[in-house]
Amino acid sequence: MKACVLLGNTREKSNTEAVTRIFIDELAAKGVEVKIFSLREKNIKSCVGCDACHSVMDSFGCVLKDDVQEIAGEILTSDLVVFSSPIYTWYATPPLKALMDRLYAFTKYPENADAFNLMKKQRFALIATSGEKCKTNCDLLSKGVKRMAKFAKLSYIGYFAALDKGYEKSTRKKVADGARAFAKKCIKSFK
Ligand SMILES: Cc1cc2nc3c(=O)[nH]c(=O)nc-3n(C[C@H](O)[C@H](O)[C@H](O)COP(=O)(O)O)c2cc1C
Repeated sequence: MKACVLLGNTREKSNTEAVTRIFIDELAAKGVEVKIFSLREKNIKSCVGCDACHSVMDSFGCVLKDDVQEIAGEILTSDLVVFSSPIYTWYATPPLKALMDRLYAFTKYPENADAFNLMKKQRFALIATSGEKCKTNCDLLSKGVKRMAKFAKLSYIGYFAALDKGYEKSTRKKVADGARAFAKKCIKSFK
């Protein structure tokens, strides 16, 4: 089993990355191959809406040349795709949102046939942290990722969210246990 983790945090000392690293360690301990992308270090251009990608049937097909080609390649060979983000204005951070938009290139619209998606086997999951109550601050991003999965006819495993209690407390036991349990839940969903 292979997982691709997309880290959307914009700062180095990140609650979200700290929690996600615990999740990643648990996946790795259980034998999952994990590829991690720190999106803030990547060149991810905004989608320009040219729609050229949708007519290229057998590959990603985006005309923009940046790091998304590599990330898309990893996603295509992964079983689990994990979106990880601090909540910024009730949604994903700019680098993750830009990537999410660019993944629309996986959707293909043939001239005389039904639309299809190049992603066939992937399952999506989300890890988020928020400054205010998770239930009413991470819910929209969870809905967005779930809707992305549904649109591509893929499964959404669910999300793990943690409240910002300050970076030093971001890996406190309760949160760490929750992140590990979520990793186990993700693995279990493939059995
Ligand atoms: C620009 C910005 C927007 C934010 N918007 C929200 C929000 O809408 N809801 C919320 O609960 N927290 C919000 N927060 C707080 C962060 O989600 C929270 O502090 C998070 O744990 C930061 O994660 P990080 O340490 O990984 O960057 C915002 C923070 C920033 C910097």
